[in-house]
Amino acid sequence: MLIMAGTTYFIVAWTVHALCHLPHHPTIEEFPLTFPTSHSEILERFCQYLRSSKSCNGTTFALFDTIVSTPGIVMPWKEMVSICKAEGVRSLVDAAHSIGHKTNINLSEISLDFWVTSCSKWLYVKHGCSLLYVAPRNRSMIKHDLTPSMFIPDGKYSCFQSEFFWSGSMDAMTAMMVKPALKFCQSLGGEQQIVDYCHNLVVQGGCVLAKTLGTELMCSTGESPLELIGCMVNVALPSSKNATVTPQELFECESQLLEGKVYAQLFILNNCYWVRVSGQVFNQISCTDCVNPCLIILMTPDVLPLNTLKI
Ligand SMILES: *[C@@H]1O[C@H](CO)[C@@H](O)[C@H](O)[C@H]1NC(C)=O
Ligand SMILES: *[C@@H]1O[C@H](CO)[C@@H](O)[C@H](O)[C@H]1NC(C)=O
Ligand SMILES: *[C@@H]1O[C@H](CO)[C@@H](O)[C@H](O)[C@H]1NC(C)=O
Ligand SMILES: *[C@@H]1O[C@H](CO)[C@@H](O)[C@H](O)[C@H]1NC(C)=O
Repeated sequence: MLIMAGTTYFIVAWTVHALCHLPHHPTIEEFPLTFPTSHSEILERFCQYLRSSKSCNGTTFALFDTIVSTPGIVMPWKEMVSICKAEGVRSLVDAAHSIGHKTNINLSEISLDFWVTSCSKWLYVKHGCSLLYVAPRNRSMIKHDLTPSMFIPDGKYSCFQSEFFWSGSMDAMTAMMVKPALKFCQSLGGEQQIVDYCHNLVVQGGCVLAKTLGTELMCSTGESPLELIGCMVNVALPSSKNATVTPQELFECESQLLEGKVYAQLFILNNCYWVRVSGQVFNQISCTDCVNPCLIILMTPDVLPLNTLKI
């Protein structure tokens, strides 16, 4: 059985559903995540859900994010992994947004089963570069979907490493960018500085945006209002109040933003419209008069200063 969080990134969710075409496939259950919420509420509901839904006669996997893409929220994923362990459920963690976005990730301290992150999202590496962690006890379960063209039987590399060693068409340049990217992070003061800067920027910028729009930030309903916020923030759009904007109009707004060289994800949640804004080292709280007036509805120049965004 596979239990998948309702906020799973759509392509990952489609991949899971595509498994159903295979002769032997897991049954799929969806753990619904509702908003507004808090870390403690997510944990309580996740625990209850696993207890009542996990398979009693087979292996259950739980698939969830460390940081959800839409809405852009930080999940209490380390505690969710602990719940999985306590319930005998294997954790399959989509950490695409984690590396470069959160510091102090020490996988040896967390008893997870599978974890995968993408270096192109927050680590300044080009697309197509990921890191896969599999707990040593589970490595025999993993097979690469393409047969590696080169197998190294000399004992220097483990069978698991050989499984992924070289698939012929791989672009080695991509992996070679990781070290320079880490050096770049160091040159800016290190990952902690970057993450702190981006977090503070989106919290400040998000407040400015919400104030300008007369709306609100998506905050936790728990004791720490900012616990859901990493380097992305979700701000309600004014149309939320009477919901007159159609999805097509939202799409057009996104296109207008792109014309202004700004990308921000627009989405609908609980019948309201929201924008997800990300903070990066090349954004700053400044520059108030350089934005195309049509964007002001959605985006204050403080949040995404166009003259500093070089796409
Ligand atoms: C587990 O039980 C369910 C329901 O009783 C059944 O449909 C399924 O085939 C069983 N799975 C295994 C692996 O025995
Ligand atoms: C990660 O955790 C392990 C186990 O607790 C510990 O031995 C190791 O020193 C930690 N690594 C870092 C870089 O903190
Ligand atoms: C994988 O890890 C789980 C614990 O999470 C363990 O029960 C299982 O034996 C491991 N190995 C395989 C091949 O499933
Ligand atoms: C409702 O939407 C219309 C058209 O977009 C807008 O002019 C009006 O101000 C909105 N009303 C409220 C209460 O937000």
